[in-house]
Amino acid sequence: MNMPTSIWWEYGFRGNPYSTDPIELSAEGRRLLVGRGSELKLISRQLSGGASVVALEGDFGVGKTSLAAAAAWDAAQWRANGGPLFIPMKIRLSLRPDDSRESFEQKTMRAVAATLVESAGKLKQEGRTLAGIEAVKRWLQAPEAGGWSGGVSASILGQGGGLSGGRNRTPNTSSGFSESGILDIVDEWLAQLFPDRASGGVICFLDNLEELRDSETALSVMEPLRDALFKRPGLRWLISGAQGMIRAAYASPKMTGVFLDPIEVLPLDHSLVPGVIAARADALKNRDDAVVPVSEKAFAHLYASIGQNLRYALNLSERYAFGQDPEALVLLDDKKRDDKFEESIKVEADRVYSAYAHDLTSADWKVFDKLLREKAGTCSPSDFADFGYKAMPPLLIRIDKLKAAHLVTYTKDDADQRRRTISVSDHGRLAYFRHVNS
Ligand SMILES: Nc1ncnc2c1ncn2[C@@H]1O[C@H](COP(=O)(O)OP(=O)(O)OP(=O)(O)O)[C@@H](O)[C@H]1O
Ligand SMILES: [Mg+2]
Repeated sequence: MNMPTSIWWEYGFRGNPYSTDPIELSAEGRRLLVGRGSELKLISRQLSGGASVVALEGDFGVGKTSLAAAAAWDAAQWRANGGPLFIPMKIRLSLRPDDSRESFEQKTMRAVAATLVESAGKLKQEGRTLAGIEAVKRWLQAPEAGGWSGGVSASILGQGGGLSGGRNRTPNTSSGFSESGILDIVDEWLAQLFPDRASGGVICFLDNLEELRDSETALSVMEPLRDALFKRPGLRWLISGAQGMIRAAYASPKMTGVFLDPIEVLPLDHSLVPGVIAARADALKNRDDAVVPVSEKAFAHLYASIGQNLRYALNLSERYAFGQDPEALVLLDDKKRDDKFEESIKVEADRVYSAYAHDLTSADWKVFDKLLREKAGTCSPSDFADFGYKAMPPLLIRIDKLKAAHLVTYTKDDADQRRRTISVSDHGRLAYFRHVNS
């Protein structure tokens, strides 16, 4: 059977230059991260200074997960220059509203164990051995029947995959050790490798904190984790979230001294955006005459016109490329190719605009415009003064209209009016493209 040729291959690339996946924890991934110099500096200062939790707060798709991976990658290189030992986990953890302290602790410690087991070779080169490693390996490979989310070890020790292994029903054939005994071994490893905060730690990623829904749930799930995990010796946390959930956790008195001031991740500066495509094209190119279906320039224009969201700009470009015939597109000159892309986005933006946004008033658009341009796409109901209102209700009238038109999402958080639960949607960004380009 003939395998179809990848469209990217036809353009001269070995992979998709518009992939919306976060930047990977690898040397290649690190080369794809553009800008973020000041954020990286802040993160490295907090990590090297001994912070237990480094928190990143920013709108959906702005680049939090990628930034965390790049920062952890950098921290892992310090050792080669005689610095502290930082070992990043290969997986990202996430918390759900129904996670208990026990279930999350097990998930985390399993991932920590797998990370250290995987690093055993490197550690040996430094003259450090992990006592009891064989027992830990058996535990990682044979989770209890019907136990909590298994498969973590397999996905780290093998290739790819995540934490979503689901229940593993493989019976435990290697009895003779207890869970708590294994955890003691892993804690002992941590204590020996990282006798104090200056010596480093295993970097744990906790992503998408906004999935905890509301601030009350977030605190009830997170506070019990404080001593068991966030302050556990040898663990260091990179936590990210959208919609003000990081700030909600940070504001809890119980978390004082655990969370530092969250680092705000704002949209990538417009001038750096062509570099995103240039770096990817360079890394993926397998022919000198490779042609990007959406050029750096066309991409940067799209990014600006949808109110600066990297993931959505990549997503629109990817979708466009899938809909085109590569053979025809590569024959066009650069200008014609850019025009064709712009035209296609216009058609889509027109469609969204007429379906949802045609009856919005100029006052509605004014709020939307401010939300995108001055609030990086996300705000809280209590920000009414920034929108020129004297109270919350008139702002909420506009927000309700924008929500009914599918241009924003808005979830109420009764426990915290200051949480930024109003966010521009992808539809909103496309309608905005039409609004500014008509
Ligand atoms: N600084 C950067 N340089 C180059 N590419 C980037 C940068 N930041 C993000 N990206 C790319 O943008 C896309 C979105 O990034 P990422 O997934 O890290 O955002 P996020 O804020 O974690 O999103 P979400 O809120 O959905 O979790 C990814 O494809 C990523 O590779
Ligand atoms: Mg993310």
